[in-house]
Amino acid sequence: MPTIKEILQTMDYGPAAESTKEALAWLDGHGRRFGLFIDNAWSEAAETFATNNPADGAELAQVTQASADDVERAVAAARRAQPGWVALGGHGRAKIMYALSRLLQKHARLFAVLETLDNGKTIRETRDADLPLAARHFYHHAGWAQLQSEEFADYRAVGVVGQIVPWNFPLLMLAWKIAPALAAGNTVVFKPAEYTPLTALLFAEICQRAGVPAGVVNIVTGDGRVGEAIVNHPGIDKIAFTGSTEVGRLIRKATAGSGKKLSLELGGKSPFIVFDDADLDAAVEGLVDSIWFNQGQVCCAGSRLLVQESVYDKFIGKVKARMQNLRVGSPLDKSNDIGALVDPVQQQRIHGLVESARAEGCEVWQPNVELSTTGSWYLPTLITGASTSAAVAQAEIFGPVLVAMSFRTPGEAVQLANNTVYGLAACVWSESISLALDVAPQIKAGVVWINTANQFDAACGFGGVKESGYGREGGKEGMYEYLVPLAEDARPSAPMVAEKGRVKPAEEGTAFAVDRTAKIYIGGKQARPDGAYSRAINGSNGEFLADIGEGSRKDIRNAVEAAHKASGWSRATAHNRAQVLYYIAENLAIRADEFAQRIALQTGSKDAAREVAASIERLFYWAAWADKHDGAAHQPPMHGITVALNEPVGVIGIVCPNENPLLGFISLVAPALALGSRVVAVPSEAHPLSATDLYQVLDTSDLPGGALNIITGSADELARTLASHHDVDAVWRHDGSAEGCAEVERLSSESLKRTWVGGAKGRDWFDAKQACGRTVLQHASQVKNVWIPYGV
Ligand code: NAI
Repeated sequence: MPTIKEILQTMDYGPAAESTKEALAWLDGHGRRFGLFIDNAWSEAAETFATNNPADGAELAQVTQASADDVERAVAAARRAQPGWVALGGHGRAKIMYALSRLLQKHARLFAVLETLDNGKTIRETRDADLPLAARHFYHHAGWAQLQSEEFADYRAVGVVGQIVPWNFPLLMLAWKIAPALAAGNTVVFKPAEYTPLTALLFAEICQRAGVPAGVVNIVTGDGRVGEAIVNHPGIDKIAFTGSTEVGRLIRKATAGSGKKLSLELGGKSPFIVFDDADLDAAVEGLVDSIWFNQGQVCCAGSRLLVQESVYDKFIGKVKARMQNLRVGSPLDKSNDIGALVDPVQQQRIHGLVESARAEGCEVWQPNVELSTTGSWYLPTLITGASTSAAVAQAEIFGPVLVAMSFRTPGEAVQLANNTVYGLAACVWSESISLALDVAPQIKAGVVWINTANQFDAACGFGGVKESGYGREGGKEGMYEYLVPLAEDARPSAPMVAEKGRVKPAEEGTAFAVDRTAKIYIGGKQARPDGAYSRAINGSNGEFLADIGEGSRKDIRNAVEAAHKASGWSRATAHNRAQVLYYIAENLAIRADEFAQRIALQTGSKDAAREVAASIERLFYWAAWADKHDGAAHQPPMHGITVALNEPVGVIGIVCPNENPLLGFISLVAPALALGSRVVAVPSEAHPLSATDLYQVLDTSDLPGGALNIITGSADELARTLASHHDVDAVWRHDGSAEGCAEVERLSSESLKRTWVGGAKGRDWFDAKQACGRTVLQHASQVKNVWIPYGV
């Protein structure tokens, strides 16, 4: 008689196919041809393209390729609808968004099957992940609409938002984009990916049923050309994009200087780190969710497995055994783990990358599983023996392909984890909470999952750093992406020129006779500029005041290097940073009269004494914030917490305003320092002496060398170098140069650094609403969400 174990081994799952009846009836009901959804009406389908079922290649429907005119109509409809949508008020919008969530839940089965048909992902995932998360997103954001007047009282909606999403989570990405936009009072022109437009079209019908007013949600289908038309349309106030880093770069370039707000959620090559004390079996299951969820077509897929050497062989053995049990096949079969890739193009791309690894001598392991001969499939794949610089270890493969490596120490794990241009997510597996929580902050990523993987919730922000993009989706931080501070509207239309007083020329022999050459300031030391050039600075009455060093590219490079070496500043306690800022304020106060006189000499300002007093107060203000910009502890529907940490940005290049040369400088440099970033500052080009006067103040205030570096010279030239520098994490430019700001945004696209530019407008640096507050805190920090489940 066979044993129970033997009987169990012979048992297999029978087919458990989900019915497609309802979904096909919906497609048939539309004659399998779809127009565009603009202003609450369906256009006739004109030029169309096919959307296919990746599991068998069969055509599902013909969908419209929108024209530039269609985009024009959609933007116009959204523009017309926006004031009415705002006027509906938070509660009015919340009711409609709540209805959307209810309808999504009510039709969850239809949505799930349609998504599986169009995308190829398994029904288990669309049913259990995509749909519940999409509905939750609308519920959560209905709540933000309800609370808007209380929680975002000082903000307004951005206006008309263009949203472009990829094909890997078609409906979920729609929810991530549309829900916060609508909650905040924006109207949208939304473009689904060309491979997967169907659930967005079904969602349009849901909008009609939920009573979304005409023009609030417009859905235009088509390929990248439609995306481009949206990006370039002058009637759009913000672009929210999820997709490849390559297209993200194009969008950054295209929107440079346009004043459009931009959030980019791009690619990743996320590490999955397994320490030797991890629960290895649990880690294997986490790995399945991490790299084989959605066939690995996930921006935050844990595609780089890093295992501590002592358990490497054991863990790899367990991974292979588990891979052998993964069920690959019909996405509509409820017991299948892995479905079809979205399109044969992706299959060929993945195949090419895997074969290049094989040709380079890597070991490529795949389970012994039969694949269907029709449709677009790829076996779960494990690559070992790749060098850290191999294409498969660096490029986003976007398929079910895992690359494994070993490490010896936690330090080496962090180094390997960060050895990529991306910074989206990471998993850390260890039973030692102190080890896991020590490693998490060291990883450059927007999300870290500890002993879990690929968890998402509407209350917890998601997004990346480095070439994974910027901006967050979800959580309160995600709402700010769709809002503009009212204080921005109050900014003067041009930089404010100081009201001139009568300035006495410097007298020979007094402390204010300025006849020396001010050097640049790198690594806590005054240095001569590399090129040994200087430029003359004249006072407001035309009289020569001083020569200043003409900083060059080389000087910026040296300053960036010094800033990187000063990483201790970012690790210093917030209390410590606050103390240094207070100390700078105290030392500035001692020399207040001298600073005021020198400001007056440079600018002729009648307000110089007030500017110094305001600068001292601003240092106090940012010192006060240093230890108060706390994160949050979210409670997602998981047994555990998600801790949102406000981390320093890294190295920030700051091009300071010509208005109020001391106050403008301090208003930008102090918050960056307060929140732990290191700074390379370019002082006012016209009036740089107030910044160079600060050297002595800094030297006596315990600021560690390299935390703040100051390079004088041409704002354009120096900004250009900062924006092109790959080791600078963000560039701020506020000197009123529209073209200069546009150039910073354009050049930032190369390494996808964050930017904060003031454009051609001015700013009243005395006005706390315009110069302080949450907006500045947000520019000076980035949120990392660390997921920490509890229990066993
Ligand atoms: P993609 O970035 O080209 O497409 C994403 C969306 O952008 C689509 O809606 C597309 O129509 C639109 N688009 C394309 N060109 C555009 C342009 N110039 N301006 C505005 N919109 C434009 O991604 P694709 O071609 O579908 O996939 C290629 C690779 O990109 C994948 O193999 C993967 O490596 C990566 N990818 C990453 C995603 C992520 O979530 N991180 C999502 C999709 C793709």
